[in-house]
Amino acid sequence: MLFGVNVGYSLVGKLSEFWIGETRGVRVENTNVLMVRTREGLFAYQGECPHKGVALCEGRLNGDLLTCSAHGWEFNVANGRGVNPRNAELKKFPLKIEGDEIWIDADEKGKASVGPTLIANAAGHAIASAIAEQNSDVEVLDRGSYLRVEAPSPCRLSRYFLEKHMSKAVDLREELELTMSSFKGRIAIEPSQVVWRSEGGKL
Ligand code: FES
Repeated sequence: MLFGVNVGYSLVGKLSEFWIGETRGVRVENTNVLMVRTREGLFAYQGECPHKGVALCEGRLNGDLLTCSAHGWEFNVANGRGVNPRNAELKKFPLKIEGDEIWIDADEKGKASVGPTLIANAAGHAIASAIAEQNSDVEVLDRGSYLRVEAPSPCRLSRYFLEKHMSKAVDLREELELTMSSFKGRIAIEPSQVVWRSEGGKL
């Protein structure tokens, strides 16, 4: 089956345990993240102040206005924009609520990347190697039971390269249906090639 569910997202807590007016610092995929809940909603931003890197979760929240505890820089947490100074900005991370669960995607590379998540068997390794050979700046993350391929959009896999790595004739669609558990971006499968593109990219 070809579908993607929560790929790149990490579970960080329960909405029912997060109060309006609360700020919280969490660590997601080696990234410090500021979570903040206001009457406008729940948001996730970079955890460190863009001024000198002090943890923003220690700041003071008043409505939508967050004031850094160190030197008073102020941010509107409804949109991440600087209030004082105005040219400051907080990097925002994708966040979604599923039932009572809060999920955050703090994988910076992942947001700009596309590609498949593969079962870590021989075919999965061959597909990852073929993609790495055919595209530049590809990163293959070995997670034990699966491999996550992250590449700039568009990421291509041609039958020629896969056959080279598998040392046999292959049906691209068949190989992916057996080996790909999910993917990032949009996918177009043709007999001679597969292309993953970012959501906004043309297929
Ligand atoms: S570190 Fe936040 S205002 Fe200076």
